[in-house]
Amino acid sequence: MTKIVRLNPQVPEPELIARAAEILRSGGLVAFPTETVYGLGANALDRDAILRIFEAKGRPTNNPLIVHVPDAASVQNVVAHWPEVAARLVDRFWPGPLTLILPKHPRLPDAVTAGGPTVAVRAPANDIALALLRAASVPVAAPSANRSQRLSPTRAEHVLRDLQGRIDLVLDGGPTCGGLESTVLDLTTTPPRMLRPGLVLASEIEPISGPIFHSEPRKNIAPEEPPPSPGMLARHYAPRAPLECWPEHECRSRLKVLAEQGIRIGYLSLGAPLDPGVIQLAMPQEARGYAARLYAVLHELDAAGVDRIVVALPPDTEEWQAVHDRLRRASAG
Ligand code: TXA
Ligand code: MG
Repeated sequence: MTKIVRLNPQVPEPELIARAAEILRSGGLVAFPTETVYGLGANALDRDAILRIFEAKGRPTNNPLIVHVPDAASVQNVVAHWPEVAARLVDRFWPGPLTLILPKHPRLPDAVTAGGPTVAVRAPANDIALALLRAASVPVAAPSANRSQRLSPTRAEHVLRDLQGRIDLVLDGGPTCGGLESTVLDLTTTPPRMLRPGLVLASEIEPISGPIFHSEPRKNIAPEEPPPSPGMLARHYAPRAPLECWPEHECRSRLKVLAEQGIRIGYLSLGAPLDPGVIQLAMPQEARGYAARLYAVLHELDAAGVDRIVVALPPDTEEWQAVHDRLRRASAG
């Protein structure tokens, strides 16, 4: 049985947090809100608890987990080395949606890092998450709280839809504010390498870290070697219905073709309303608002049982990079 408890997102009830922390310390699984998406947490120092995460999600064991800590002072049992650049970055961005890849501490079970020599670590900017991490007083490994290959959850209901009966507890802190997973930055290569775009932008990181390698236009500095990041290769972050993206001016004719085939369509528009007959969701016109809504809207369309999702492509500027990345993955395969 999965229990669900509602918490005050600003002032989380200490007795509820204490109970959740006790479940983590005794090897259980607790889903909790972060500022990005809900995470599925387990004690990162407990190998059996970690294996339960992989089982509950149906996640391949070669895909490593992010370890969550309340602050930079709590990374001792997680990373083997804390370079100066990490200290400067977390000084600016933690707590917040920036995950750093660093050499793994020998004490950390291999299951967390999928047997690899590096570990992903971050401090989430969410009061429930921070209270839980402090009360647990162990580092907490937490992937997004969804079944593998499915959409990340931005609400407690989304977590239950995927993981009901597979985990011990869900802490319901309401909808998450960021809506897309954290930026992942590998600090074990020279130069550092952006592995996953997120709400912290390369242009915000570079003044602190120096130039970084990223796959988007701008400066492309070849790294020593491309580090493997298994979770980033596959189709990911995908709704049930096939999703296709079109330049905005081509959407109307595409929708017409699909409608003539009798396909039930969900349409994520950026502009004016269309004909009735399509489920149209008008998306925010600025990147942060769009990011915060995207997964919730895709979850809604899945629940409504549409056969196809058509998305009008947003502008191609840096602040939209994470949104483009997730749309690309959702439409792959
Ligand atoms: O915002 C987030 O990051 C959320 C919340 C819960 O913190 N978590 C999240 O976790 O998105 P997950 O497991 O869904 O995605 C973690 C990504 C995966 O693509 C994984 O392959 C990558 O980070 N990753 C983890 N450890 C890594 C490592 N040592 N080296 C390279 N990539 C790593
Ligand atoms: Mg995930």
